[in-house]
Amino acid sequence: MTDVILILGQTLVFGASPLEEGPGAARHDRRGAVAISGGRILATGPADDLRAAYPEAETRNYGEALILPGFVDAHAHYPQTAIIASWGKRLIDWLNTYTFPEEMRFSDPAYAAEIAGRYLDILIRNGTTTVATYCTIHPGSVDAIFTAAEARGMRIAAGKTCMDRNAPDGLRDTAQSAYDDSKSLLDRWHGRGRAAYVITPRFSPTSTPEQLSALGALWAEHPDCLMQTHLSEQPDEIAWVRSLFPNARDYLDTYEAHGLLGRNAMFGHAIHLEPRERDRLRETGAALIHCPTSNTFIGSGLFDIGLARALPVGLATDTGGGSSFSMLRTMAAAYEIAQLRGQALHPADLIWLATEGSARAMRMEDRIGTLAPGSEADLTILDLASTPAIAQATARAGTIWEALFPTIMMGDDRAIQAVWVGGSEVSTTA
Ligand code: GUN
Ligand code: ZN
Repeated sequence: MTDVILILGQTLVFGASPLEEGPGAARHDRRGAVAISGGRILATGPADDLRAAYPEAETRNYGEALILPGFVDAHAHYPQTAIIASWGKRLIDWLNTYTFPEEMRFSDPAYAAEIAGRYLDILIRNGTTTVATYCTIHPGSVDAIFTAAEARGMRIAAGKTCMDRNAPDGLRDTAQSAYDDSKSLLDRWHGRGRAAYVITPRFSPTSTPEQLSALGALWAEHPDCLMQTHLSEQPDEIAWVRSLFPNARDYLDTYEAHGLLGRNAMFGHAIHLEPRERDRLRETGAALIHCPTSNTFIGSGLFDIGLARALPVGLATDTGGGSSFSMLRTMAAAYEIAQLRGQALHPADLIWLATEGSARAMRMEDRIGTLAPGSEADLTILDLASTPAIAQATARAGTIWEALFPTIMMGDDRAIQAVWVGGSEVSTTA
């Protein structure tokens, strides 16, 4: 085999979820290697073994840097790129003041294309190689992100955000047009190259029961698609849902009653859950997406990461309700929120959540989020001494976890030494 590339550095390979089995679920090789060929991982293991197995391979040596699967951001709003870090509002005010006016600009395909490209370049710079993103109500905003991802070779999940009430003029569709537009985008993009279409009602307050039903019907026709939406983010929002859906048992029921609860569902936030909601989520195998920088930034609350033992939980930036594009910063925020709940997340938990955990939530763990043979070769190479402050902390480390944790807590895009997408190294400074 002549086209094998051997990528050398430290490696971490998870045999199971550390949240279930502890940090011992990970195998660390200080002198490790990942062999790739044709855009896929062939093998991961000790460098000496892989050098012997592939003696003809071209090598790329990252020395002491840590080779990880590319980060997977399981919930974001790419159209909110330019309004990230907008001051002083909580959810509903924040949507009305900042988000909706910005999303209106995506009626212009040129603007959508500009932001889509800018957004994906920022992701790559931060070591994120796959995202599940909301778009706006405009079909052109969906074409823009899939086109930009295709140009970069990235695996991506995205969908048209549907809203037919409680949104301003120019930002509403209808039950029928949401169905028709989502269906034609799905037909165009789902399964094309590395693209996956996600059926995307924004959240119950901005969809009529008719629209939720129409999207539930579309999902029933395409059950292999993911469905993403928001659930129980802030108390005011939950009270609003109760008044809009007086017959619903709870917030989750507003989705369930319209065919929008199932194994391929991803519910963002899910902070203030009722016991029945937790039970139903567990029974159906739906995934929850933890958005820690958003949950602090817009004051939503403290997610219970203990739920990750019962059902799939992904980790996400929730750009631009979230205050960072970086999954390192997102891991740090997840750690801090867990501390406030008396739960100490181990560095193994944090890295796993940002890679395989998110990939599992997106039902893509057979393709991304791991260094397992057969996975697509999306890699993020972490410099564990990227700043003087981090380097002095890392210098004292006795274990890989002590060496990694300062980068999780203090690292930013300077820690992203290299990124590989689909088997090729890509520029992180575009
Ligand atoms: N709930 C409905 N829409 C949004 C959004 O754009 N961001 C966040 N954080 N929550 C939402
Ligand atoms: Zn969101």
